[in-house]
Amino acid sequence: MKKSSFLMFTSLMILILSCNLRTFKDTLTLASPGGSNKISFLISPEGKPIYFVDHLSVRIIDSSEISFDFANQEMLKGSINIIGSELSTVDESWEMPWGEQRKVRNNYNEMIIRLEENRMPNRKFNIIFRAYDDGIAFRYEFLEQKGIDSVIIKDENTTFQLTGDHTCWWIPGDWDIYEHLYKTTPVSGIDAKKMADSRDLAQTYIPENAVNTPITMRTQNGLHLSFHEAALLDYSDMTLKVDTQSLKLTSKLVGSDRLGYAVKRALPFKTPWRTIQIADNAAGLIDSKLILNLNEPSKIKDMSWFKPMKYVGIWWEMHIDKASWDYGMTLDQSGAWVDTGKAHGRHGATTKNAKYYIDFASKNDIKGLLVEGWNTGWERWFGFDDREGVFDFVTPYPDYDLEEVIKYARSKGVEIMMHHETSSAPRTYESQLDTAYRLMQKLGIHAVKTGYVGKILPKGEYHHGQWMVNHYQKVFETAAKYQIAVNVHEPIKATGIRRTFPNAISREGLRGQEFNAWASDGGNPPEHLSIVAFTRMLAGPIDFTPGVFDIGIKTKPKNQVNTTLAHQLALYVVLYSPVQMACDLPENYEGQPAFQFIRDVGVDWEQTRVLNGEIGDFVTIAREEKGTGNWFIGGITDEQPREITIDFDFLEEGINYTAILYSDSSEAHYKKNPTAITIKKMNVTKGMDQKIILKEGGGFAISMLKN
Ligand code: NOJ
Ligand code: CA
Repeated sequence: MKKSSFLMFTSLMILILSCNLRTFKDTLTLASPGGSNKISFLISPEGKPIYFVDHLSVRIIDSSEISFDFANQEMLKGSINIIGSELSTVDESWEMPWGEQRKVRNNYNEMIIRLEENRMPNRKFNIIFRAYDDGIAFRYEFLEQKGIDSVIIKDENTTFQLTGDHTCWWIPGDWDIYEHLYKTTPVSGIDAKKMADSRDLAQTYIPENAVNTPITMRTQNGLHLSFHEAALLDYSDMTLKVDTQSLKLTSKLVGSDRLGYAVKRALPFKTPWRTIQIADNAAGLIDSKLILNLNEPSKIKDMSWFKPMKYVGIWWEMHIDKASWDYGMTLDQSGAWVDTGKAHGRHGATTKNAKYYIDFASKNDIKGLLVEGWNTGWERWFGFDDREGVFDFVTPYPDYDLEEVIKYARSKGVEIMMHHETSSAPRTYESQLDTAYRLMQKLGIHAVKTGYVGKILPKGEYHHGQWMVNHYQKVFETAAKYQIAVNVHEPIKATGIRRTFPNAISREGLRGQEFNAWASDGGNPPEHLSIVAFTRMLAGPIDFTPGVFDIGIKTKPKNQVNTTLAHQLALYVVLYSPVQMACDLPENYEGQPAFQFIRDVGVDWEQTRVLNGEIGDFVTIAREEKGTGNWFIGGITDEQPREITIDFDFLEEGINYTAILYSDSSEAHYKKNPTAITIKKMNVTKGMDQKIILKEGGGFAISMLKN
């Protein structure tokens, strides 16, 4: 990345108006720059802070209270006065080092409201509201107080009073994992606790009828809302408790049973932003850059060492039981892994196998190779209580010559993506972070996939609590020092941190492709990703690992991927990530004409256009590749077949593209005939349109290479 493109302000206008308000009963209002969204704030007669939100003339959040429960002081709830407010406007644009689009406009009006208790202990705090044309956000600022140096938050009670029983797409407010199927119900039908028994997960904890964010809703009038948070740093994940009677959502912070509270912070500090994206149609939610804009500009000056890439991996073969992560060693009495000479011979991460993948990648212009199961410890990685000290992030198994693999990969123009499965023993990982990253630096490796399978150690901590939020952040920040980009599995959810730390490249945090290999519930249904595009994907890049060609999964007769082959191709465009896996085995790609699409498709984008979409039904996205001007389009449907028309009006005038359309054949069906695909060459120019039939569980992909 060029230095000049790191952060570019095209214009920056800040206007600060200070006023001391004496008429405390007044309602303060803040409208977005284009006037579409308006936030109002007032103090109730009982002295309680209250806000509500309008979109044009429609009330979307009715009067909603705000309060905090503390462990070390009285609740902060009533007897509050407004002692001042400040307004400001920002209109700037900045450049993403990698992303869905090059330039992002950040245009909002801000109102800081200064509040004070009118009784002892006269605590002061601020609420900062921002109104954007694509949504609203607010956060709390805790100020320095006499005699109090920190706050211990038992719960934050930010409420969102909905104005209707909207249709919503939700996953439960699990404190430990986001890997649940989305449910579609009215708000009044949310029953998250029913989902606590997911048998395929090594961790799950759903203590309340709460949902996790982003949760997306559609009102009866077709307005689309998505509730989430931005800049989740040194705080715990906000789930939303659902009152199915009054249709009120209340923030419920993920707690720590070990420590007995949710958040402890030294004063002063600011909480993460509470956000609502607001769009007139579903596509508008994907266009919104609100979450990113609420994060601070990049703290990493030079990101030129990271290049978005496609990658293959010694990975799927373990999930489909063709190979294993472990080699078959035992722990000796001193706690060291020893080779008993009785390895079972199914180990996937061998030097030989790595070379096979490297040859395949190199031949197909795929720049990365992930190797899982390369290091000692996998014999005890999962299902054991005692996981501390088990994984070693520098010692390869005897049949994996790390240096030789790196040398061979380099000679073929392929980079290794390192793999660190922590088995949710973050203290073990932290104790080895520098050593592990130093080794990577020495080997010239710039990306790592991390994993956190299982219950967190120590017991009483959860993946989504403050203690783990800080762990994940420490990993990003330490990795940045070694020029390492991190792709986290079993992560804390994305909240736009990638703007500030662009080495936070991708995350899982959803039911990924792997569930199709082994889930006992039949895998992800065909509608899964047409919901994910409007929920999980609003948070940030997804390492879903698309590209299964052996849809029936030969080694697993009881499992299959519930999409057509064309749907798998479409995912390279529909789902955004700067690292996109071609997850199937090389032998399943060999000789397949459809693989040409994976070879051609870009991974870094100049611009993105969401061409159509309805949540849970279908979505089509077009993206222009950075640097080449080539366009790629992907569209997917749920279990329903449909016909859609692509209008190529978004293209630039006068340019001809040689296009290849990969679509479901007339006999294609995700269950009956998933691999039936039709591949057709075309010429495309602005002004044309193209009718495409998507079959049950199907999709299509188009590559458009500029002539
Ligand atoms: C779960 C991850 O999601 C998966 O991709 C990985 O292969 C396993 N953990 C092992 O680390
Ligand atoms: Ca996972």
